[in-house]
Formats: sequence, structure tokens, C-alpha cells
Amino acid sequence: MKTSAAQPSNTGFPHRHLLGIEGLKPAEITLLLDLAESYVEQNRQPDKKRAVLRGRTLINLFFETSTRTRTSFELAAKRMGADVINISVGDSAIKKGETLLDTAMTLNAMHPDVLVVRTPFSGAVNLLSQKVNGAVVNAGDGSHEHPTQALLDALTIRRRLGRLQGLTVAICGDISHSRVARSNVHLLNTMGARVRVVAPPTLLPGPFARLGVECFTDMRKGLEGCDIVMMLRLQSERMQGAYVPSVHEYFRFWGLDYEKLETAKPDALIMHPGPMNRGVEIDSEVADDLGRSLIREQVEMGVAVRMACLDVLTRNLAPANGGAA
Ligand code: NCD
Repeated sequence: MKTSAAQPSNTGFPHRHLLGIEGLKPAEITLLLDLAESYVEQNRQPDKKRAVLRGRTLINLFFETSTRTRTSFELAAKRMGADVINISVGDSAIKKGETLLDTAMTLNAMHPDVLVVRTPFSGAVNLLSQKVNGAVVNAGDGSHEHPTQALLDALTIRRRLGRLQGLTVAICGDISHSRVARSNVHLLNTMGARVRVVAPPTLLPGPFARLGVECFTDMRKGLEGCDIVMMLRLQSERMQGAYVPSVHEYFRFWGLDYEKLETAKPDALIMHPGPMNRGVEIDSEVADDLGRSLIREQVEMGVAVRMACLDVLTRNLAPANGGAA
């Protein structure tokens, strides 16, 4: 169980933290998606604010860059009435040699209810969750998991196609370094979709096959008959050495363009978690194809999904989160 020790709860989500998708049950995923659905409408109203999290404090602790994830957690918390503090590595004591754990314990002493953490170290968020009093949400730990990304992807697909069960989803590109791929594999498998991973052999780790996915090293074959094509960025910040000959070559063989898309279903939909590198893993025209690209919708769903997660996790906390461990 990578999600956190089970907690007594009447929310239907018996976890204190959200550390990963691995280990979540289908009913728990469905609960979060259904709840997120109810927040989509709220986010489209002129008055987006509710008092569900009034009195609660959320700290965004980001040790890697982020646009979508950090902003959407902040918006989600503010729209639910919480106070939000943002800390990034540049303005934290990590720069002065403090460890991630010491920083987290310092913040913990100020009684935050939720800590949203992004770190380059796989597993670090799990460790931290064992030390603090509030709920911890993994906003991406190294190449391990990024659970809210998989949830927002699932909500986007479900809203467009009405289901996840039975769909064929091809996740393409830098599988090796992608926490998005890992979380999506767990979620889609759990919800009964057929998952393929499509990548150059240098970016496709052998153990992936053990996760119950089909592996392809030929993009056209990998896309054959699929309903969804999910593209990933080359995560060079996590690469040591050259995994691809050149960006130009990479685009030729692995960049999604209309020609490679031909083998997918005629109405196959395109997704990308962002940030996108146009002309590297995806052709601009395909990315901007309003009929088929779900990329903007993914960003919109990100806020609703994070609201649902904060709602459920804070309901699982004691009414007042006081007292140090
Ligand atoms: C992803 C991440 O940070 O893992 N981005 C995101 O959260 N939307 C993917 C990436 O950085 O390529």
C-alpha cells in the first residue's frame, strides 16, 4: 500500500495521505472522480469560493519547478476557503543546507493541515508523511508517482468518453523517467483500461512489463487501434547521459504527428500532462487540434481533482489539527 496507512473514516477514502495511486481501490478512485465532477461546475461560476476548508492551512512545498500543479493546488485550496503558503526551493532553508525532512518538521510545527510536496527524490514524500501531523499529498516524487495527475487525466477521459473500462490507452515517450506514466498505469489498470507503453528501448525500463502493460518500441504499432494517445516530455532533468541521438531524430521516430496518428482509431484523443516541448514529442498542429486534443481540458480538470482530494483528506483529519507528534 503506497497510499498511506488506512485510517478510520466515513468519507469512503480510508487514507490519511495521498502518496500514490498504487494500492487505491476502484471505488476509492471513483469516489474522488465523482466528487471532482461536482467541483467542475463550481469552477465555472463567477463565484468560485466555498468555505469547506475555512480555517485550514495548506503549504505547497515545491523542490522542483511547476506551473500547472502548484497553481492548481493553490487555486483549489483558495476556492475552498483555506489559507495557502507557497514555498519553493529558491526561498527555503534547503539552500542553506537544511534537509527536506527538517524543513518539513519546521513547517509541521506551525500546524498546517495539508502539505503538498514535490521533490526530485522518489520515495521522499512517503518518508515525510510518516513524520508530520497533517495530510500529505504527493505532487510528484522523482520518477515514482504523481497521483493527482493520473486522477485529472482519468477525469478528463471519463468526461469525454463516459468510461475508462475497456479503453486502449497508449502512453508514449520517456517512460523511464516519468512519474506520470507510473501513476497512470496504476490507475488505468485498476479501472479496467488496456494500457500500452510506447517508447524507444533506451527509455522503456524492463520492469514495466511486470506492471501489466503491453510494451512497444515501434510507435505506429503501439498506436494501432488505440482510443487515447498520451504523450510525455523527455525529462532531461532526470537523465544522466544521452538517451536519444538528437531532438530532431527523436521527433522523427517518436514525435506525435498526424502521420503516426493514422494507425490509432480515427477519433483517437490526444493528451499531454504539460509542459509540452513542441516539435520534440509532439507536433504543434496535433497539440492544437481542438477536436482531438484534450490538453487544455486536462488543466481545467486539475483544479477540480485537487479540490476533491483536499476535501476528502481534510474530512479525514481531526477537526482541529493541533499538537506536535
Ligand atoms: C509532469 C511532472 O512534473 O511530472 N508535469 C505536470 O505535473 N503537469 C510532467 C513533466 O514534467 O513532464
